[in-house]
Amino acid sequence: MTTSGANNGQGSLYGIGVGPGDPELLTIKAQRLLQNVPVICFTQLDDGKESYALSVVRGLLDAAKPEFIAITIPADDDAPVSPQTWTDSAQEIAGHLRQGRDVAFITEGDPMLYSEFFHVLESVKSVVPDLDVEVVPGVSSVMAAAASSGMPLVTHGQRLTILPKVYGIDDLVKAITNSDTTVLMEVNRDLLQALADREKLGLTGKAIYVRQASTARETVVDDISKLAAEDLDYFSLLIIRR
Ligand SMILES: C[S@@+](CC[C@H](N)C(=O)[O-])C[C@H]1O[C@@H](n2cnc3c(N)ncnc32)[C@H](O)[C@@H]1O
Repeated sequence: MTTSGANNGQGSLYGIGVGPGDPELLTIKAQRLLQNVPVICFTQLDDGKESYALSVVRGLLDAAKPEFIAITIPADDDAPVSPQTWTDSAQEIAGHLRQGRDVAFITEGDPMLYSEFFHVLESVKSVVPDLDVEVVPGVSSVMAAAASSGMPLVTHGQRLTILPKVYGIDDLVKAITNSDTTVLMEVNRDLLQALADREKLGLTGKAIYVRQASTARETVVDDISKLAAEDLDYFSLLIIRR
């Protein structure tokens, strides 16, 4: 996606997907932009851990030494991000853009798939109406996990459903029934419950759990009966083939 505003010497906002974790899965375009933009923005969980997206690209930034804007959001996935957070960060980003400085918002995977880039884009647009935007797609974790699983996600004519999280067993049953392949992201307690009920759902032998795809910590588990609660990780997903 590229939208050009009047610009008038104003900087551009880039939404850059940094891929699933392996820095070699960054696109050449993403690498070039990240080594040239003066300001890099990312969301940062309030638990103090380094931003995942930043950890993927940090090695590229040593020479460029960009300014960072960290948008702090709750580590607790069930806690909403306050609208003020997006308003404040939009003002900070807009300040750079008005001075002609490009800003890149980096996000894990792809910026157009379950990414906070949406909030950043909407809030910056509301204060910079003639915003110049470019979105640089990234390798999504869905694609990386499928590669790690060694099986195509879907083949010709088959249906694929991607769920952001499990909203209960009924939701999951419906998705599994209506699709050839279902990908469940954001592993949570409901998923654990679903795993416990796997016999009822017919998941045995059909689900593959992929944790931290493309990184040195990657794990692929094709017998999900071996999974325990402590094995689950935020950066993991489940691929279920009917
Ligand atoms: C907020 S979504 C971000 C999705 C991202 N925009 C994408 O395109 O992959 C976060 C979820 O992505 C999945 N995820 C991200 N990186 C992953 C990885 N390296 N391996 C497995 N799952 C991953 C997990 O399900 C995680 O809970």
